[in-house]
Amino acid sequence: MKNISDQSIDLKGKKVLLRVDLNVPMKNGSITESSRIEKIIPTINLLIAKQAKIIILSHIGRPKGKVVKGMSLEPISKKLSSLLGKEVLFNEKMVDKKTKYELNKIKNGSIIMLENIRFNQGEESNESEFAKKLSSLGDIYVNDAFSCSHRFHASVEGITKYIPSYFGLQITEEINALRKITSEIKKPVTLIIGGSKISTKIKIINNLIKKFNNIIIVGGMANTMLKHTGSKVGKSIFEKDCGYLIKEILENSKKYNCKITCPIDVVVSENLEGIGKNKELHEINDNEMILDIGQKTIDSIKKIIKDSNTVLWNGPAGYFENPNFQNGTKKILEIISEKTINDKIFSVAGGGETVAAINKFKKFDSFTFVSTAGGAFLEYLEGKTLPGIKALNQNV
Ligand code: 3PG
Repeated sequence: MKNISDQSIDLKGKKVLLRVDLNVPMKNGSITESSRIEKIIPTINLLIAKQAKIIILSHIGRPKGKVVKGMSLEPISKKLSSLLGKEVLFNEKMVDKKTKYELNKIKNGSIIMLENIRFNQGEESNESEFAKKLSSLGDIYVNDAFSCSHRFHASVEGITKYIPSYFGLQITEEINALRKITSEIKKPVTLIIGGSKISTKIKIINNLIKKFNNIIIVGGMANTMLKHTGSKVGKSIFEKDCGYLIKEILENSKKYNCKITCPIDVVVSENLEGIGKNKELHEINDNEMILDIGQKTIDSIKKIIKDSNTVLWNGPAGYFENPNFQNGTKKILEIISEKTINDKIFSVAGGGETVAAINKFKKFDSFTFVSTAGGAFLEYLEGKTLPGIKALNQNV
């Protein structure tokens, strides 16, 4: 593993392209949770101490190759600057011929952040021309974004083909911790999966069935399961074209003896700012949306966790940002936390929204490990070699 902390790497005056994950939750242009920004500070401090010129590459959201005003990294560059107590320059332009010239002006030990890398067309499609252009902006590439390493994107995978590439400090810590946990995992294993990124995660569930004893589905993921199995979901978010996948998930769960648990009661409201009403599934009206799990569901989750020796959690149970819909997420946290402390089980939580919930309810120390990664964490659990990690290992 080629790590940037290796003393033999001379970084003085070198332009280091540092890929990090600054995909943090934002509301009305303000950052609501900043753990992912805090986590990259050790790597930045190391690069500053070694007198490198630091060029930060990151993304926020899914702008799909277009400039989206609300998805600028500028507020994040300001937050990073205040956390570091040091100037962080911001380059708001797209990556083009002039970028190289702009970056040549930066001094040793200073930091510049480029605008959302996903505003560029070749990023998500991993175009080799774009990856080459990105690589030409620096002398060395460092990936410190474990949470993006499941993406075949130019700033994660493609770039490593053209420039000496290294692991950062945070990605190394995450890989080591997850490797240890997955090698020592004890059955029964329960995975709780929720959150709003339904489309990518629903496919992963099917592969995880073979590995776990229980999969508890909550949040936006559960709406999709409920809708496709004939329950009412009102105007809740759900993934439309995946009836066939749900069928397969249910068949596989029987085949591999993995119990799938979905909500049996929920908390609904007409809008995100509303007051919650506890309802049975058949009572949900068309103008209502599911925003949390109900008490009976919480009780059944408690029972499953009680009988587990390993609990993995990705994705909140509801819209916990509003206190009216935070109960399910908060209770899951309390149950896992109590079980981890009392029975010394392994518990791992991962993902941007999950970490935000853990911080909100101040439960950071009650998990065996908290990963910044959501999708990457799940793909790692599937046993996949993440493209970003494979690319670093192949870079010589
Ligand atoms: C995440 O939040 O898990 C990472 O930033 C990756 O984001 P993505 O799912 O939009 O690729």
